[in-house]
Amino acid sequence: ATKYQPIAPVALTDRQWPSRSISRAPVWLSTDLRDGNQALFEPMNCERKLRLFHELVRIGFKEIEVGFPAASQTDFDCVRRLVDDDLIPDDVRIMVITQLREDLIARTVQAVRGARHAIVHLYNATAPAWRRTVFGMNVAQMLQLIRHHVGYLRQLTDAQPATRWTLQYSPETFSATEPDVSLRACQTAISAWGTGPDRRIIINLPSTVENATPNVFADQIEWMHRRLSPREHVLLSVHPHNDRGTGVAAAELAMMAGAQRIEGCLFGNGERCGNVDIVTLALNLYTQGVSPGLDFSDITAVARVAEECTALPVHPRHPYAGDLVFTAFSGSHQDAIRKGLAAQDPDAAWAVPYLPIDPADLGRTYDGVIRVNSQSGKGGIAFLLERGYGVVMPRRMQVEFSALVQRQTDASETEMSGDALWELFRATYLQ
Ligand code: KIV
Ligand code: ZN
Repeated sequence: ATKYQPIAPVALTDRQWPSRSISRAPVWLSTDLRDGNQALFEPMNCERKLRLFHELVRIGFKEIEVGFPAASQTDFDCVRRLVDDDLIPDDVRIMVITQLREDLIARTVQAVRGARHAIVHLYNATAPAWRRTVFGMNVAQMLQLIRHHVGYLRQLTDAQPATRWTLQYSPETFSATEPDVSLRACQTAISAWGTGPDRRIIINLPSTVENATPNVFADQIEWMHRRLSPREHVLLSVHPHNDRGTGVAAAELAMMAGAQRIEGCLFGNGERCGNVDIVTLALNLYTQGVSPGLDFSDITAVARVAEECTALPVHPRHPYAGDLVFTAFSGSHQDAIRKGLAAQDPDAAWAVPYLPIDPADLGRTYDGVIRVNSQSGKGGIAFLLERGYGVVMPRRMQVEFSALVQRQTDASETEMSGDALWELFRATYLQ
C-alpha cells in the first residue's frame, strides 16, 4: 500500500484537512451468495455457489453470507454440504439469514449445525411504512418481537456449544427509520443476546433502498456509532445498496463515520442496482495508502469466475476490472502514459499519468489499442466488432461470444484480428 500515496488535501479553512480519512480496511462480508444470488434471473445451483464460495475464500473473505436456508431447499442443502463436507476453512465464518419467526430460526440453526463458527443474521424492517402497512405493529410490539426471537435464538444456540455463535441483527430499512427507533431496535437485540468477549454481536445497518446522499447515510451511521452501548463488544457494520449510484461513496463515508465492517458483492451484484461493489471499494483503498486485505492480483480471473457463476457481465468500464479501463484511445493520453511508464521508478510511489493504479498489481497490462488475445474480454471484442462491422451484441451474447474467442485464442496462442473475429462471428451466428 505504500506504493500509493493519498492526494494531498487542500486547506479550505485553517482547520486540519482532510477532517477524516480512511486509515484501515474494514472487515469485509461478501453477500454474493445471498443478496447477490437472490437478484439473479436464475439463482445459482449448488455447484455454482460452491465455485463462487471457493473463489471468495481464495480472495480472502473471512465472513461470507451463504444463503437463506429456511427460505430455499437449495440453500439449505448447499449450506449443509459446506458443513458436512468440511469445506469451510477454520478462519472463515459463514453467515445465514432469516426473519423473526421461530420455525424459520430453528431451521436456520439446523442448516449450520456442526459448523465451527456461524453467524445467524436476524432482520426485520423497522421503517414506519413497514411497521404500519406490512406488519401492523407499533414500536413497542416490534421491540417485543425482536426481544423474543433473539432470546429464542440464544436458547437454541446455547444448547449447541460446539459451534461458536455470533448474532448479526439488521434493522432492515434502517436509513428510512426514525433514528431513535433504530437505536432502540438495536439495543433490544444487544441486550437480548448479551455481550462480552465471547459473545459477539454485529449490528448491521442497511440502506436497503438508497434514497439519500452519502453524507446523510454517514450521519445516520455516526449518530448510531456514538450512542450504541456497550460499544466495545459490538461490531458496527453497514450494508449499502446502490439505487442512486452512490453506494461506494456511502460506504466510504460510513467508514469515516465509524463503520467497521462492510457488506457487499463482487462487481456490485445484488437487488435492483446492486449491493455496494466490494471490488471498487477495496481497490479504492490503495489511493488512501491502505491495503484492502483482499487479493485482486488477477482481477480478470475473478471477473471471469463471477461472470460464469452469476451469468452477469462485468461492464467494460467497471472501475479497475472492466476490459477497457487500462486502455487509452486518445493519442495524448497514450503518449503521457508511455512516458510515465518509462519514467516510473519501481521503488517510488506510483505516479503514471492517467493510470490511478498500476495495472500489473491487478494482473493487467496497459493497452494502447484494443488487441484481442486469450486474455481479452468481451468489451474489447464488442468494441472491435461494433467499430469495424457495425455489430452491436446484447450483453449475454458478448459473454457467450467472448468465451468462444477465448477458447480459440487459448488453443492457437495468438492474437485475433478484427477480420478473424468477424469471420468467427458470422460462422457462429449468421449461417
Ligand atoms: O438490503 C437489506 O436491507 C438487506 C437486509 C436483509 C440486511 O439485505
Ligand atoms: Zn440488501
